[in-house]
Amino acid sequence: MSGRAASRSPARWAAYYRWTAARPPRELLLRTLDHIEWEGKPDQRRTAIDLGFGAGTDTLELLKRGWRVLAIDGQKQAATVLNRRVPPRRLPSLTTLVAPMEGLELPRADLIYASFSLPFCAPASFPELWANIHRALRPGGHFAGQLFGDQDEWNGKRPMTFFSAREVRSLVRGYRVELLRETVEEGQAFEGPKHWHFYDLILERRRSA
Ligand SMILES: C[S@@+](CC[C@H](N)C(=O)[O-])C[C@H]1O[C@@H](n2cnc3c(N)ncnc32)[C@H](O)[C@@H]1O
Repeated sequence: MSGRAASRSPARWAAYYRWTAARPPRELLLRTLDHIEWEGKPDQRRTAIDLGFGAGTDTLELLKRGWRVLAIDGQKQAATVLNRRVPPRRLPSLTTLVAPMEGLELPRADLIYASFSLPFCAPASFPELWANIHRALRPGGHFAGQLFGDQDEWNGKRPMTFFSAREVRSLVRGYRVELLRETVEEGQAFEGPKHWHFYDLILERRRSA
């Protein structure tokens, strides 16, 4: 398969953004930022890419903490929602790009954050995107986000990307693994109850790679 994974219509995504806009910043982002801050890197302005930013809550948290952010999403409505939510004084630190993640050339970044978005990448485009993320990260920079596991309920039903545990271990080779946490649970999705299988990742690009 090539091209974009059309798993939800623009109207469904817009409804998803209304559903998620009130949530707090995700635990994975807070944990990643605490980790980076804990590492005591120089207090310079750092650049993050929020890939598939959705309603923009995590982009807002990054901006609040002084990051420059390139926020990328395939949906125009996501950019509309985010731009409405950004305090005017933070606007100079934000660049918003509406574009599919497939085939994107990502610029240099200290953090690439992709919260529940990479699974929506068209499977045929994923290897190039994953390589692109590694290339774009500065040595010592971090990736944080999720990949879906092959036991996820949507596997085989939606044109999305899923991985076995062995495949995930192979994908993280070349990184220092700060977190690789597998979750299998009955939970809730926007559409209703769902069997979830996903991996939370925090990875550091090796300084020598
Ligand atoms: C499940 S939402 C996650 C949003 C947000 N990161 C969060 O954690 O709440 C996935 C986001 O990825 C975006 N997306 C899905 N497929 C995409 C694609 N092929 N290219 C770019 N963005 C895409 C959607 O528009 C949506 O905003």
